Amino acid sequence: MLRTHSCGELNTKHIGERVTLAGWVHRRRDHGGLVFIDLRDRAGLVQVVFNPEVSGEVHEIATRLRHEYVLQVSGDVAKRPPGTENPNLPTGEVEVIAQQARLLNPAKTPPFSLNEDIEVDEELRLRYRYLDLRRSRMQENILLRHRVIKFMRDFLDERGFIEIETPIMIKSTPEGARDYLVPSRVHPGKFYALPQSPQQLKQLLMVAGFEKYFQIARCFRDEDLRADRQPEFTQLDLEMSFVDEEDILVLMEELFTSLVENVKPTMRVLQPFPRLTYRDTMERYGTDKPDLRYGMEIRDFSDIAARSESTVFRSALDAGGIVRGICAPGCGHYSRRQLDELTEFVKDYGAKGLITLPVGGEHTTSVLDKFLTDEQREEIARRFEAAEGALLLIVAGETTVVEGALGALRQEMARRLGLLDPNLLVFCFILDYPLLEKGEGGRWEPMHHPFTAPKDEDIPLLDSAPERVHAKHYDLVCNGCELSSGSIRIHTRKLQEKIFKLLGYSEEEVKRRFGHLLEAFEYGAPPHGGIAPGIDRVVMLLAGEESIRDVIPFPKNKSAMDVMFDSPSEVSEEQLKELHLKLKLD
Ligand code: AMO
Repeated sequence: MLRTHSCGELNTKHIGERVTLAGWVHRRRDHGGLVFIDLRDRAGLVQVVFNPEVSGEVHEIATRLRHEYVLQVSGDVAKRPPGTENPNLPTGEVEVIAQQARLLNPAKTPPFSLNEDIEVDEELRLRYRYLDLRRSRMQENILLRHRVIKFMRDFLDERGFIEIETPIMIKSTPEGARDYLVPSRVHPGKFYALPQSPQQLKQLLMVAGFEKYFQIARCFRDEDLRADRQPEFTQLDLEMSFVDEEDILVLMEELFTSLVENVKPTMRVLQPFPRLTYRDTMERYGTDKPDLRYGMEIRDFSDIAARSESTVFRSALDAGGIVRGICAPGCGHYSRRQLDELTEFVKDYGAKGLITLPVGGEHTTSVLDKFLTDEQREEIARRFEAAEGALLLIVAGETTVVEGALGALRQEMARRLGLLDPNLLVFCFILDYPLLEKGEGGRWEPMHHPFTAPKDEDIPLLDSAPERVHAKHYDLVCNGCELSSGSIRIHTRKLQEKIFKLLGYSEEEVKRRFGHLLEAFEYGAPPHGGIAPGIDRVVMLLAGEESIRDVIPFPKNKSAMDVMFDSPSEVSEEQLKELHLKLKLD
């Protein structure tokens, strides 16, 4: 046996025991005669003392140790001398007096410090990911990820779900991104597509009679990357037969509430989860991923603006636009520079500008001064329930631009005002999404994917007014992050064909891409629905991280590369030949 105990488990109960430990040299302090080593393994750190009077030979080994050397030590657990205890360390009351030591492997000096919590360039971290993962923050994140997935598995197993794997090499399953393709050697000129999600497969499992399915599923999407997007990511994919929307929402509320209670009890969850309609959330928060940890809701005052003399308001309204704003408490004193920063901020979201209106106090100048009567100014302040000293931040223009800009500004102001409580999780459901939206060239596109069922009462509108059809779709959002999407699905061939037709697919295309699914629906497909929380995002929120890259062991960088493996990379002529491919790059 290389060790009898782990470093992190030792405490006063072990005093007097002879133990053998193995781990990495985390820190080393040479106090003339005595050498102190903090030895680290996954369970934690313990102080090991090398005393030349105990063993000259062992002390000599200690003088040669450097950071990250791998060491085996045998020694006696002793109480630390009074005054030298470390209350910040679980093993801080004891130390191990080394009797024997064996260097298992030396280490080069790491390219960045592993024993301090410091900012390190991300490319360097990813290049040496195996070292980055040794750092305590990353160890904790990966451990948390394990606990989250384990909890999800147990929770669903207890409720009669079964875990079923589905293929990675399959056919295009659209979720709105580009596919990753895999060329076939055996079938020249043909390709598999990696699944953007197991959507069709889980629906086919419902047709197959499994009733309650789940999978920790890897999904692949070739799309622009962001802090919360990776080309391959993991979903808790699930599907149930004989359910309606309410069944899925109740299940999700239970799952996430008990998940937090179990794996992150220091965080608070607001219950019950608020439910908002899509329209309502867009109006009040400017986004369908609202952060509800704070208020600062968007208010419309187009009616008051229409009565003002402001040409900015007038021209926006005349063009069919709106005038809305948010009220930032206590920001009435903002300097010109701060206001300019906020103006630049909203311009990034397409707004033409930002109008600011301080409420009460001394600093009341605004570009609106000449264009608003005192009564109008008061009416606007009342609309926002604004207190003295507040700053109204106003955007006028096209509805989607105003919503987008104010939605982002609301979050920015909350950040500046310190309203983003890191220990509070406010989950909410967004309901009543439109089924379709207008895409490029005026074509109808599914707002989510083409398998989502329309609301029963809206089915007659599919022919006459598709834009008014609502979907049996729900999103689960937490602290401004979209965690999950799901829906009740179409389960009849007739309705699915109708939707494909509305989306402009030709009969030939439908047959080629979805013939198998339509056929399956003719063999007694049960009504079914499901959802798929993104596990990377869930762990990111629970870990308090800002990027999913920090909770994925081996993520791609911002340009979809693995800089450690240097992937993607060229392949040999021979491999291409076997795949019947010739490269012609443009
Ligand atoms: P959707 O496409 O909304 O739905 O994805 C569900 C959840 O997966 C996560 N997610 C991602 N996470 C990291 N990187 C990405 N590139 C990425 N894309 C999505 C998000 C998102 O909410 N099949 C449907 C679900 C269903 O209808 O049951 C689907 O995949 O957390």
